[in-house]
Amino acid sequence: MKPLRKAIFPVAGLGTRFLPATKAMPKEMLPVVDRPLIQYVVDEARQAGIEHFIFVTGRNKSVIEDHFDRQFELELTLSERGKKDDLALLSRDLPGPGTTSFTRQQSPLGLGHAVWCARELIGNEPFALLLPDVLVQHPRGCLAQMIDAARELDGNANVIAVEEVPPASVSSYGVVGVGPSKGKAFAITKMVEKPKPADAPSNLIITGRYILQPEIFDLLAKQERGAGGEIQLTDAMLQLQHTQPFYGLKFEGRSFDCGSKIGFLSANVAYALARDDIAPALRVEIKRLLGDK
Ligand code: G1P
Repeated sequence: MKPLRKAIFPVAGLGTRFLPATKAMPKEMLPVVDRPLIQYVVDEARQAGIEHFIFVTGRNKSVIEDHFDRQFELELTLSERGKKDDLALLSRDLPGPGTTSFTRQQSPLGLGHAVWCARELIGNEPFALLLPDVLVQHPRGCLAQMIDAARELDGNANVIAVEEVPPASVSSYGVVGVGPSKGKAFAITKMVEKPKPADAPSNLIITGRYILQPEIFDLLAKQERGAGGEIQLTDAMLQLQHTQPFYGLKFEGRSFDCGSKIGFLSANVAYALARDDIAPALRVEIKRLLGDK
C-alpha cells in the first residue's frame, strides 16, 4: 500500500445526545479527564505517522480550529509565570504549522457525505478515517495496528477496525461478515449498517477507524440515502467491495464509544485510572461513592 499520509476527522455532528452540554460547544471538545476527545484521536493519528489532519467541520465548530492553533496570550502569561510544564504540554499537543486543514459539511447528510466533503483535500491517495466519538486505549492506539496489518495485505486493500459486542447491541453500529484470515486480518464478506440483531452477519462491529482507498469518493458522490435517511459510508464501502478487497482487524486495546453517555463516563474513569497523578485519589473516591469500605 502507498504510505498513509492523511487522515479525515468528521467533526460536524450535532451532538444531540449530550444536550445541553453541546448546545454551544462541539461534542468533540468534551474533556476526557483534561483533554478534549478530539485531541486523543489526533494524537493516535500522529502516533501512527499521519502528517496531514483534515477536519470536516460545521457551524459552531470553530473552537476546534482554535484548539489546534497557538494561543498567544495564554502562552505569554504561562511564560511570564514560569509555567514551563504547561507550556511544554501545549506545544506537544499542537500539530505542526500547515499540517491541518478544515472544510465544512454544509448540511447534516451523514457520515458518507462528511467523508466525501474532504475529497479535494485527500486527492488520489489512500487515507485514514478516525471517528472522534471512539477512543481506543492502547499504548500504540488502533490506527498504528491497522497500518501494520495493511503492510501484509494487497496494495489496494481497505482495512476496518472491528470488535465484538453483545449481539443485542449490533443495531447501533455497522456490522461485518467474517471470511478467511489473512495475517492478523480477515476478509470481510458483508457490511450492514445498523442491522436488526436477527439480520446481523456477526457480532463484530465497525469501530470508527478505517483505512480507505480514494476510489470511495466517486461512489460516495452517487450514494443514495440509507439507514436513518443519511448517506452512509458503509453503503459506499459495499459498492467499493465489488472492485477492491476489504479486511477487518480485531485490534488490541479497549474502545470507548464516547457518543453514548455511559461510554463517555467510562472513558473518563478508565483514562483517569491510567494516570499516576490522578489514579490513587480517584480510587479512594470511587470506593467512597460506591459505599465500599
Ligand atoms: C458510524 C458508522 C458505523 C460505525 C460507528 C462506530 O455510525 O456509520 O458503521 O459502527 O460509527 O462508532 P454513527 O455512530 O455515526 O451512527
